[in-house]
Amino acid sequence: MATKRLAPPAGPALFLELLHGALARDGYLSPGATQEIAEALEASPADVYSAATFYHYVPTQPDPALPVGVCEGPVCRLTCPQADRLLRQRLDIGADGRSTDGRYRYLGLPCPGLCDRAPALFLDGRFYAGRDGAPAWPPEDAPAPLPEASGESAISPLLGGERAYDVLKEALGSLTPEQVIAAVSQSGLLGRGGAGFPAGRKWEAVRSAPAETKYVVCNADEGEPGTFKDRSVLEHGAELLIAGMALAGYAVGAGVGIIYLRYEYPRALDALRAAIERAEARGVLGEDVAGKGFSFRVYLRRGAGAYVCGEETSLLNSLEGKRPWPRDRPPFPTTHGLFGAPTLVNNVETLAAVPAIVERGADWFRSLGRGESAGTKLYSVSGRVRRPGAYELPLGVTARELVFERAGGIVEGRALKAFTLGGVSGGLLPATAADLPLDYDSPPSEGGVLGSGGVVVLHDGDCTVRFARDCMRFFETESCGKCYPCRVGTVRLRELLDEATGPAERSPVAEDVAARYREISEVMRLGSACGLGPSAGLLVSSLFRHFRDEVEEHVLHGRCPAGVCGGSDA
Ligand SMILES: Cc1cc2nc3c(=O)[nH]c(=O)nc-3n(C[C@H](O)[C@H](O)[C@H](O)COP(=O)(O)O)c2cc1C
Ligand code: SF4
Repeated sequence: MATKRLAPPAGPALFLELLHGALARDGYLSPGATQEIAEALEASPADVYSAATFYHYVPTQPDPALPVGVCEGPVCRLTCPQADRLLRQRLDIGADGRSTDGRYRYLGLPCPGLCDRAPALFLDGRFYAGRDGAPAWPPEDAPAPLPEASGESAISPLLGGERAYDVLKEALGSLTPEQVIAAVSQSGLLGRGGAGFPAGRKWEAVRSAPAETKYVVCNADEGEPGTFKDRSVLEHGAELLIAGMALAGYAVGAGVGIIYLRYEYPRALDALRAAIERAEARGVLGEDVAGKGFSFRVYLRRGAGAYVCGEETSLLNSLEGKRPWPRDRPPFPTTHGLFGAPTLVNNVETLAAVPAIVERGADWFRSLGRGESAGTKLYSVSGRVRRPGAYELPLGVTARELVFERAGGIVEGRALKAFTLGGVSGGLLPATAADLPLDYDSPPSEGGVLGSGGVVVLHDGDCTVRFARDCMRFFETESCGKCYPCRVGTVRLRELLDEATGPAERSPVAEDVAARYREISEVMRLGSACGLGPSAGLLVSSLFRHFRDEVEEHVLHGRCPAGVCGGSDA
């Protein structure tokens, strides 16, 4: 029987759509599909293969056994270190990674963004929350909880309805693109994806870049462990995001928007697909949006599993069907982005804040933040708290308020020992820093950065060195390998941390290991080509800054003060 040809997808940036079409048709990346994709993209099969095999979820051999696995990321490892063993026992999976009945094959998972419901489980293309602190079997799919908001908020009130479309229509009829940009600039909105760059400045740069074709790209890759705030917006607020993207397109002069959605969010994929169809049917997206003479379409592109694709230039390479390594900058995407065209790349939360800013004004949005900070922020809280979840709160709340007042405090009545910022990319801080405002200016005084606003909490029974080791495993696995300091540095740091947290009977290390850690972290900070390498280095430098005694106990005396290291689930 002749193989059915891959259907040509609509819109630009076809690679990922073709790739997923091939995987759905053949079950793996077959030689025929590689050839077909290459022909469709006018690329070489070697380049297609090189790009496609970068991703986690692209098998290159047929295999009838269903892939199954648990999250091996640092948050799931913190709360359920035995998850892997429990699943293997439950399904009778042996050392060869296969169940004795041949039904399942084990696949190690990087963090799928279910840190609030750890430990996460993967089965054949879907991701499931844990149950009672263990891998759930049989797995049950459940939507992301809505973020909990407190007081006036920019995003939560607009989730779950189409009110944002009214804001869009009203703005198209009454505001010029320059006025929309002015509102965003004056609101003080800083990009919520991690870097905190002023949104209005970026929008202005794209608007003033001379070009016929421009793009708005929504970064919905959210691969950072301990960060799952965009997920709730994507599942419950697709209309809000679409309206934010359309307002951005109108403001910067772009007619096409692309949502780059991480592979691990299939529920969001369904929600976004349905919302785009509805918006087109209602005339909110299309040739003449709401009859206002502005043309804007939104296309959905699903990633295939790679944390580095959240870095905006990797993301653009991924869309273009290239191996998704970060690009050298300058030039920046604002002038040379997708296929060389000026491109606005913004995080989900950034774009979702825009309709409220346009509706209620820049001053109102500014007034929502604490002190000098503007607006509300979606914080993700996970780890050892009673009520993990996403919380929309004034930008600048303290870690203490977030952890104790919102997230219910520490489990089992234990004491706070440490918490991360930026998921795991913004450093590890001690309990004494709990009164630090979680904004873009304060954390550097403690050697941290707010980043995505993900906070992972450790209690007094946890080991910070062991946690750092699990984070480093993640960075090592996800380093794209383009630059030497990160490719080698993440491996060396993980080796050092493995040594420190290994079996209790190991010999203590006499040399000045601190100097070695410092040297590697510093090289990573100075020499890496994107933010991943420096984030891995920051984790270690903050570990030494705040938990030096605990590290030295491990390294010099072979002792884990928390009594965690050296066990069977290490
Ligand atoms: C390794 C790495 C991963 C990143 N992952 C994400 C991500 O998942 N989502 C995101 O919005 N930004 C991520 N970023 C930041 C983006 O590069 C970029 O700054 C952001 O999408 C810009 O949008 P914003 O200005 O609205 O924050 C990541 C950066 C790095 C270095
Ligand atoms: S810092 Fe790491 S992830 Fe970034 S380009 Fe270098 S090797 Fe790749």
